[in-house]
Amino acid sequence: MFHIKPHENAADALVKRQRMKMIKMSTNGDFIPLKWNWAETWCSVPGSFQEYFQRIYNFQVNHDDIFISTFPKCGTTWIQEATWLLLNNLDYETANRIHLVDRSVYMDLSLLYDTFHDDSITAAMQLKSPRCIKSHLPAHLLPHQIWQKRVKLVYCARNPKDVVLSYGHFLRSKGAYGGSMQEFIDDFLNAESAYTPFWPHVFTMWQMRSEPNVFFTTFEEMKRDLRGVIKRLNEFLEKPNLSEAQMEKLLNHLSFENMRANQQVNPTKIIKNTDDRSNVEADFQFMRRGIVGSYKDELSETNQRRLNEWSAQFLQEFNLTAADIFGDF
Ligand code: A3P
Repeated sequence: MFHIKPHENAADALVKRQRMKMIKMSTNGDFIPLKWNWAETWCSVPGSFQEYFQRIYNFQVNHDDIFISTFPKCGTTWIQEATWLLLNNLDYETANRIHLVDRSVYMDLSLLYDTFHDDSITAAMQLKSPRCIKSHLPAHLLPHQIWQKRVKLVYCARNPKDVVLSYGHFLRSKGAYGGSMQEFIDDFLNAESAYTPFWPHVFTMWQMRSEPNVFFTTFEEMKRDLRGVIKRLNEFLEKPNLSEAQMEKLLNHLSFENMRANQQVNPTKIIKNTDDRSNVEADFQFMRRGIVGSYKDELSETNQRRLNEWSAQFLQEFNLTAADIFGDF
């Protein structure tokens, strides 16, 4: 049913940089509506996944579950807070009392960091119904019952030039990646960082964007038209229309400034306290810039060109450009 193989080029230096040994995983993609070479589509995950993966793949899915699936750093926390609030009839009282990480559990978390001792799969299982569960796994590694039972899945993508920077800054400043930014960019392009390769992750969900149980959006669309995304998401979740006052309040709650200042959404403090503190930089910030196009002043021209060529190489087979998915960025 599923396949595991070590990275062919898992050189010692790479393992040292990442401080975790990567393996590649794939499955046959049973029940996924999209016809795709799933069994040949490998995803890089830490070796510890091997032990737990069956628990994720065979996770008992309920009909009213909502899964939030993203490639890391694509705006997960943003769409997650929006989804949780809409799903829970704008229950700000609970949202302001309980941290998002506990309201909407990241089910793969304890498989990634050996410093995180709680069992995130059990925590996801024990969430109050309707459960809102986050995962960074691609379509074919998610609990297979999502596809079998056709439960709702919310996917948010982001352009890879901003993702690689956000991901590299995040891992490096929290002490989870020992290499330079340039080394991280190389690992990302070579599909040697967690949850890569990027394009099959995003593209397969984009192709399924019209499936009735799939909601697809992008970080870029949320920046351009958050109101429109919220309206569409609310309809997808089959919730009553929002009044203008409810919409205004939600848009305000979801602004970058307010989410950054919101201690029940921004996980900066939690990461500083839970992870190996000696490795987390003093000025670590989970909410860093929150813009489209940070690559323009942070990524060298050479790296921009490499990423453009790498994207084009994947997309041209489908006669697409990155702008077809993200709009102008
Ligand atoms: P940057 O590192 O570019 O600032 P994720 O939640 O998937 O880990 O994504 C984190 C990225 O989303 C970070 O990007 C973060 O700043 C950005 N982000 C989170 N909330 C946001 C919001 N309300 N508005 C804009 N960007 C937001």
